[in-house]
Amino acid sequence: SPIFENHFEKMVVEIEGDLKTLADIINETATALDISVYLVGGVVRDLVIGQPCFDIDLVVTEKAEEFAKNLARALRGKIVKKSLFGTFKIEAGDYVFDVAQARWEYYEAPAKLPKVAPGPLRQDLWRRDFTINALALYPENSLIIDLYGGLADIFARKLRVFHVLSFVEDPTRIFRAARYTTRFNLELTGTTIRALELALKLEVLNLLTPARLRNEFLRILEERDPVAPLLFLQKHKVLHQLFSLTLEENEIKSSLYLAEKAGLDIREKLELLALLYAGTPEEFAKLELSPQKFENYQKQLKILAEKRSWFFDSRVSLSEKVFFLEKFPKVILCAAASFLEEDFLLRCFKNYFKVKPGLSGEDLKKLGFKSGPLLGEMLKRLRAAKLDGQIKDGEEEIFLKKELGDGFSS
Ligand code: CTP
Repeated sequence: SPIFENHFEKMVVEIEGDLKTLADIINETATALDISVYLVGGVVRDLVIGQPCFDIDLVVTEKAEEFAKNLARALRGKIVKKSLFGTFKIEAGDYVFDVAQARWEYYEAPAKLPKVAPGPLRQDLWRRDFTINALALYPENSLIIDLYGGLADIFARKLRVFHVLSFVEDPTRIFRAARYTTRFNLELTGTTIRALELALKLEVLNLLTPARLRNEFLRILEERDPVAPLLFLQKHKVLHQLFSLTLEENEIKSSLYLAEKAGLDIREKLELLALLYAGTPEEFAKLELSPQKFENYQKQLKILAEKRSWFFDSRVSLSEKVFFLEKFPKVILCAAASFLEEDFLLRCFKNYFKVKPGLSGEDLKKLGFKSGPLLGEMLKRLRAAKLDGQIKDGEEEIFLKKELGDGFSS
């Protein structure tokens, strides 16, 4: 964990390992161009907290492009993206760097992207979302520049905005607040609460483009525990302004747990969330998802819901249930966790869906079957027999003989 020297306003944080080497290269690159460079934002916060960070934001006082090129070369990485705001993304090994010229930012309208202009570091830090993200670190001597009390807020576990219009100007910060409070166990300060209330009162959330909203939800899903930020957003009535449905804690938990076990990728998880929260195709589309897909998914969910009693009927064989369920997209099955048994679905994903017939089509041909519908049918019968516990491994041929009697030609 980091070792602190001095008191807050002049804190030196000890950088070790890879990051120390990187900080030295960053510093040398800036010195050679006769400019100043600072590590800013999340990386400094994470250093203070003692968490690893592979996403490093750098602010330079001038010559951003030249610096980015030289740094990419020095790190044996490459510039992978230049943004509209004049920032440069460098990838080098496990690390991603964002190089920006220190800038002012101002918002011409709520929820629109800001206009930017070069400005002093002080301004660059002030324009940020929260004080904990407004720290800078000078790599030459590892001194932390804390102009706005970010360190004190980290230690007191406070999430503080700079001004009460912060969430109106940029409503994506509300989602960031959900992630940070739950990830670092922080409390909102009075101003932050008022900023949130104001943003909700002015209903700015629906001014965000679907692409931006989608991105915020993806970032929530990337959190180690996505349930907590979602509950935060529910508790503070943020999701209410976007979607007409709310969920019980258990529903979110079990759907996301199943999603994990079913191996859904992050895009599918996003669809799952949208499906659970959206009451209409238009709401579904707020996360840049197709409204037609919503209709289609709803139809399939309805089919499952109507089958509920059949599904719990113990006279129906396991294989019939499995054959029926595996035709549905996994997203739908996870969304059905609230009315189908979670345990059973879990066993489907972990085990039942993976059960194989034991013999392949090729094996059956060697046994004298011809390609065609009968062969397909036999494979299915073998699989059903396995699922229903009628045969064990290695008993497939005996089973086929019994099933087909004289018709079995081997
Ligand atoms: N930032 C901001 N307002 C936003 C987005 C970003 O002020 N709406 C600033 C914050 O200072 C943040 C920095 O830009 O620290 C970098 O943003 P990002 O990489 O998204 O965040 P991280 O702090 O790296 O957070 P995380 O750990 O969640 O990636």
